[in-house]
Amino acid sequence: MKHKNLNFKIKRYQPGLIDPPQFHEFQIEINEKMTVLDAVEKIYSLKDSTLVYRHSCHHSSCGTCAAVINGKESLMCITNVYSLNTEVVTIEPLKNHDIIADLAVHMKNFYHDFDVNWDYLKKSETKQNPQLPPNFPIFERLQNCIECASCVSACPEMKDQNIFFGPAVLSAINNQRKEHPDQSQDLLKRAKGEQGEKLCQRHIACSKVCPSKVFPARQIMELRKL
Ligand code: SF4
Ligand code: FES
Repeated sequence: MKHKNLNFKIKRYQPGLIDPPQFHEFQIEINEKMTVLDAVEKIYSLKDSTLVYRHSCHHSSCGTCAAVINGKESLMCITNVYSLNTEVVTIEPLKNHDIIADLAVHMKNFYHDFDVNWDYLKKSETKQNPQLPPNFPIFERLQNCIECASCVSACPEMKDQNIFFGPAVLSAINNQRKEHPDQSQDLLKRAKGEQGEKLCQRHIACSKVCPSKVFPARQIMELRKL
């Protein structure tokens, strides 16, 4: 298996401790199978156990490990370090979020405009005409969005104004509208309100970074057409 030494530049900020924000550099040996999250865990174990980062599933399901890697929002757990093909790997926290410490951001702004009554399910596309058990009206699955907040970080319109719902919320509105047509009027009213789709300037940055095929820009365009 191939291996080499690689430099990592990680943006650090711990209020009162590593303050102001600054990059810390680490060199570690990596192999061709390692992900960026593997590398960060190795740095934590061998070089600096004060490094703060977040992860859970290690397989692109929980959305907690999103960061800006070499300038692009990505999930650390599925980004292969070798495939980045750079001399230095730069890792920064998501933009447009308050930082708790280092790579861990506060998710309060992300969830602020989500409605607790929206569900997280959608009709399963893989089970057409299924044989359903008694009292089991349809097959459902979790919707695509893993709430990683990459789209909110990448969207230039989230930068200087915190009124825009943003791509994740508008995608959730569109999902809710499709799954619950009876709520359509109210949802479309929200989508076209002061915080809604009119603030999207069609950068398409959200769809470019979304790791989970939500295609938020497409969801916003669907709302806009309606
Ligand atoms: S829409 Fe995509 S990028 Fe945005 S939070 Fe959901 S999974 Fe992440
Ligand atoms: S650790 Fe769960 S998405 Fe990366």
